[in-house]
Amino acid sequence: MADAVPLPAGRTQETGVPLAAPSILAEAEISVSIRGITKSFGSTRALDAANLDIRRGEFFSLLGPSGCGKTTLLRIIGGFETPTSGDLLIAGRSALGDLPYRRRTNMVFQHGALFPHLTVAQNIAFGLEMKRVPRPEIARKVEEALALVRLSGYGDRKIDQLSGGQRQRIAMARALVNDPEVLLLDEPLGALDLQLRLQMQEELRRLHRAIGGTFIFVTHDQGEAITMSDRIAVMNAGRIQQVGTPREVYERPANRFVAEFMGHSNFYDGTVAGRKADGTGAVAVNGQAFPTRLPPDAMLGAKVFVALRYEKVDVVPEGRPGEGGAALDGTVEEESYMGSFVRRRVNLGPMGTIVSDAANTGRQETMRPGDRVRVRWGLDSATVLPA
Ligand SMILES: Nc1ncnc2c1ncn2[C@@H]1O[C@H](COP(=O)(O)OP(=O)(O)OP(=O)(O)O)[C@@H](O)[C@H]1O
Ligand SMILES: [Mg+2]
Repeated sequence: MADAVPLPAGRTQETGVPLAAPSILAEAEISVSIRGITKSFGSTRALDAANLDIRRGEFFSLLGPSGCGKTTLLRIIGGFETPTSGDLLIAGRSALGDLPYRRRTNMVFQHGALFPHLTVAQNIAFGLEMKRVPRPEIARKVEEALALVRLSGYGDRKIDQLSGGQRQRIAMARALVNDPEVLLLDEPLGALDLQLRLQMQEELRRLHRAIGGTFIFVTHDQGEAITMSDRIAVMNAGRIQQVGTPREVYERPANRFVAEFMGHSNFYDGTVAGRKADGTGAVAVNGQAFPTRLPPDAMLGAKVFVALRYEKVDVVPEGRPGEGGAALDGTVEEESYMGSFVRRRVNLGPMGTIVSDAANTGRQETMRPGDRVRVRWGLDSATVLPA
């Protein structure tokens, strides 16, 4: 089966042999498969029955707050930790019995871990020397790796003669030089200042395009995960909460944790209070109607919670017509200048307050506490989930 070429779904082989089941075809595209992995450290359950399929060539992020198990999962994939139960498949076969250097993985650690007494070139060459690769080939590969991270000519420097960003690039070069099929990156940009971090994010994306391997990237920064990733797994307390594209995870959070962790949202608890034929309706929040589209299975009277992102809420002066979406009248409590945007808190009455973030275009009217306003949002903008 090793050399079998996967066929696009729905095609038949020329030999007329029946097509393999779709799940088998899909399996050829999976680089790393995490199957029911649990990891306990004493009484701490760092991972709890995690399941995840990461596709070949994907830029995949593990995102979650400190202590949720990101590093533990990455270390299990890299072979630096053994799961308490469950299985790990790399390129279709169990890798649990393989030592780290036997796996097609390479890890860039959370805290650099370069050898300070060696030069840049010696650091990068280290793994190849352990594998007894011939010297001329090592020299060539080190040069290639330095060029990839845009540090050609730095080979003879000592590690302590490099900036933080350069060190991170050397740490990546040291991993890349081994031609890993899967590159494991544990918060590689965590220690960098914002400007450098943004630059390095672009560098990493470029490297990913240039190399074409699978990147598994750990971060606790949701903005970073959103801008960098093909797909994201959001984790909390050892459990995978949601897997999806940045857009899916941001726009359609699967539960309250994801909704709270990604961006800033207004939250309301209420009950489904009415539904029209077109699927829109209202959630009663403290007796006040919150207009929104409803999930198809939401029954009248069901307890739900509603999440509505600050940036989806629009505040305009009172009397301005609606735009076919929700429009409620309220009173401004506060307006805050946030640099690139303006944040407004508006009292809607029984429902409570609602917060709106609007891009600072320089053309908005200033609003003062007590101003009467109209608050608007699209009927598809809110997420409604069972309470
Ligand atoms: N070697 C260990 N011994 C005991 N407990 C551990 C060990 N490694 C991790 N843990 C615990 O497992 C949980 C998950 O840790 P992990 O390092 O995977 O979190 P993380 O998501 O990477 O966090 P951070 O964002 O802070 O790096 C934590 O509660 C941690 O204290
Ligand atoms: Mg960590």
